Amino acid sequence: MEHTLRRFNFLQGHRTDFWWVEPAMVLVGLSLFIVYATWAAFQGNHYYTVSYLSPFYSPLIYVKTGVAGSAPLWHSLLGAWPSWWPDFLPASPALLILIFPGLFRFTCYYYRGAYYKAFAGSPPACAVGAVPQKKYQGETLLLLFQNLHRYALYMALLYLLILGADAIASFVYESQIGFGIGSIVLLINPILLGLYTLGCHSFRHLVGGRKDCFSCAGAGSINGVYRKVSWMNRNHKLFAWLSLFWVGFSDLYVRLVSMGIINDWNTWGV
Ligand code: FES
Repeated sequence: MEHTLRRFNFLQGHRTDFWWVEPAMVLVGLSLFIVYATWAAFQGNHYYTVSYLSPFYSPLIYVKTGVAGSAPLWHSLLGAWPSWWPDFLPASPALLILIFPGLFRFTCYYYRGAYYKAFAGSPPACAVGAVPQKKYQGETLLLLFQNLHRYALYMALLYLLILGADAIASFVYESQIGFGIGSIVLLINPILLGLYTLGCHSFRHLVGGRKDCFSCAGAGSINGVYRKVSWMNRNHKLFAWLSLFWVGFSDLYVRLVSMGIINDWNTWGV
């Protein structure tokens, strides 16, 4: 009884297993991704080659032509790069759109649990002492902001369609149907993102009939779609990481091919 009431200092506790491995991996994995994605978004170049568009830059709202590895102007939704863009920022289409998938990941229920543990240590794992906290403030500030997740989901669903269209477009080059390694890379991307996005807790709530007490609604509420979404939901952590890795890898692949550092094997002989 005395043990259960005791408050441990930060990182202390009775656990003798390797509890620190997972938060350490989250810390390293998320840090690497954030550094790479920020760097890639600020480049503004080498995001398009053959018919492959990096997912970090899609959809293209504006395009600045004459930049190495930039997309053709017809690819842009609103045309040429605008004159109102501030000079102190690079003319990068990624800066206009990454906020939405970023918000979706940031407010994801899985990632919240993971980065609170890994970055804030509050606590770093179950039954392990946390960084000392000020008095609990209730649902204010960051916790209120996290409620945006259900709205970010709608944007994520839209991005899923856009990235799916990009994957299909990557099988056509100069009106010729074919494929390359890049087509496969860009096809896997929306599949993994779909497994992650459609396993979202908010999406499951939506397809479950938006019931706040699902068990009260009875077994009749469980439909086939709900069962499939529940399967993806049970594997949400796995798909969160696979899709995060693959979206970064897709950008890197397009970038390296565009820069001429690696060759893309494809049926067009480009
Ligand atoms: S809970 Fe993770 S994406 Fe919604």
